[in-house]
Parts: sequence; structure tokens; C-alpha cells
Amino acid sequence: MVHVERLSHSFGQHFALRDVSFSLEKGGFLFLNGPSGAGKTTLLRLLHGALPVMQGRASVAGFELSTLPRRRVPDLRREVGVVFQDFKILPERTVLQNVALTLEVRGVDPGAAERRVRALLASVGLEDKALTPCGLLSGGEQQRVAIARSMVANPKLILADEPTGNLDLDLALRLMDLFKQLHTYGTTIIMATHNREVMAQVPEAQVLALRDGRIWEGQIAGQIAGQTEGQTGTAQAETSRADGKPDDDGQAWEDGA
Ligand SMILES: Nc1ncnc2c1ncn2[C@@H]1O[C@H](COP(=O)(O)OP(=O)(O)OP(=O)(O)O)[C@@H](O)[C@H]1O
Ligand SMILES: [Mg+2]
Repeated sequence: MVHVERLSHSFGQHFALRDVSFSLEKGGFLFLNGPSGAGKTTLLRLLHGALPVMQGRASVAGFELSTLPRRRVPDLRREVGVVFQDFKILPERTVLQNVALTLEVRGVDPGAAERRVRALLASVGLEDKALTPCGLLSGGEQQRVAIARSMVANPKLILADEPTGNLDLDLALRLMDLFKQLHTYGTTIIMATHNREVMAQVPEAQVLALRDGRIWEGQIAGQIAGQTEGQTGTAQAETSRADGKPDDDGQAWEDGA
């Protein structure tokens, strides 16, 4: 579903991502972690076409991003649900309208769209806020709108950037149940998070730890992945598991909602 090979990205002189390689099969779950500024958001933005792939390769849901023309980015986005770290919801529109927009642009019948959205709002605990303009919601409520929106069109892949960052632990775990449910149904998920309790909810997940834009495989093993690759310093992802057990398997484009 996602294959990344020696992907790098720089903003001016500064490399936000350097030589990152990993693969995630269909139905897989990958946690991205690493300190602030490590490159998690940059990686996720590259994977949904918000930043152009200029160095290295990335293939996502069958789209080869290094050669994907910009006009075909909407085709990629149709397959991918995104929870943005800064939500990117429309403050003057209601919760219902924000979540339904994704279905509207796909031509889904408005009645069917509303039923689907209301069911999802109940799952994220926002059934009472359906008609509230998003600008009046708390940060945690806005985050739940963003989560519902990412899921509403049953995407093959969900890229979630710290989706529980504004939620208390109880709510975070409840929302994780929702992600886990989708995962059980076969959705592939990449989630950036710092939260170990969140990560512990999906013990079978792969973990990719970034630091200074490079893959850092050291959280558990205590070493930098690139150092095992000899002189080249190429960071090669042998992702570890969320529970720490060994695993056998081994210039910006605009963001769209
Ligand atoms: N649009 C941009 N222009 C210039 N530099 C940027 C831009 N976006 C990110 N960076 C830089 O790239 C690096 C990686 O940023 P990124 O947002 O990917 O980190 P992150 O791991 O998501 O951090 P956080 O945990 O704080 O969200 C940082 O040094 C950041 O300052
Ligand atoms: Mg980030």
C-alpha cells in the first residue's frame, strides 16, 4: 500500500526528511514517532501529495508520487483519508457540513451522506454538535471532526497526524478503538503519535521512529538504523513493533481537505 525508498525533502537548506525507506502492506498499521521537528508531518504530507516528491520515491495506493502530475493528486486523495495536525476544518461550516463535504465532492446522495455522517459523529461522541459551526468547538472537538472526516468515505489508507493530541486519555483510547475497528476491516493506517498508551493499543503495529529527519531505530534497540548500513549512512527501515517485540516480516502544494 505504501512503499517509500530513500525519500528526502528539504525546505531551503534544511532537510526535514533524509533517506527514509520503508514499506507498509495493505491492511498494515504503522506508528510514526520521534520528537518535535523529527519530520513526521513532512513525511505524511509527502504521502498525500501536499508536498511534491522531489528526492527518492514513494508509491501510495498504487500512485507513483515522484512522477504523479499535480492534476492527478485529487485521484490520490480519493483513496486516502487525512487527519491533519492542525485539523484544516472550515470554521464557519457546521460539523455535519465539514464531514459531509468529502462525500459531497464524490457525488454521494445528500440523504445517504447525512445518515453516514451522523452515524460517524455518534462514534466520535459529537452527535449533539452536528449543527454547531466548527469555529465554536473546543480543540478536542475539532480534532474529532477531523477524525470523522478522514474516515467518512471509507478510504483505503488513513494518514493521521497526532489524531489524539488534543484529547484526554479516555477519549483518546475510545478514538483508538475506532481506528482499530477500521484496521480490523482492512484499512491501512499510518499514525503519528507521541503517546505510548495510544501505541500500546495496537501491539501488532509497526513503529517507525524518526529523528532529525532520519529513521532512528534506536528507541528500543538503542542504535541509529543508518549506522548499521556502513559508510553511506542510509537509513533503512526495519520497523520495530509497537510492543517492542521482534518482527519477522520484516514547495508546497496546497493541502486539500
Ligand atoms: N513549511 C516549512 N518550511 C520550512 N521548514 C519546515 C516547514 N515544515 C516543516 N519544516 C521544518 O522541518 C522539520 C520537520 O518538521 P515536521 O513538521 O515534519 O516535524 P514533526 O515531526 O511533525 O514535529 P511535531 O511533533 O512538532 O509535529 C522541522 O525542523 C521544521 O521546522
Ligand atoms: Mg507534526
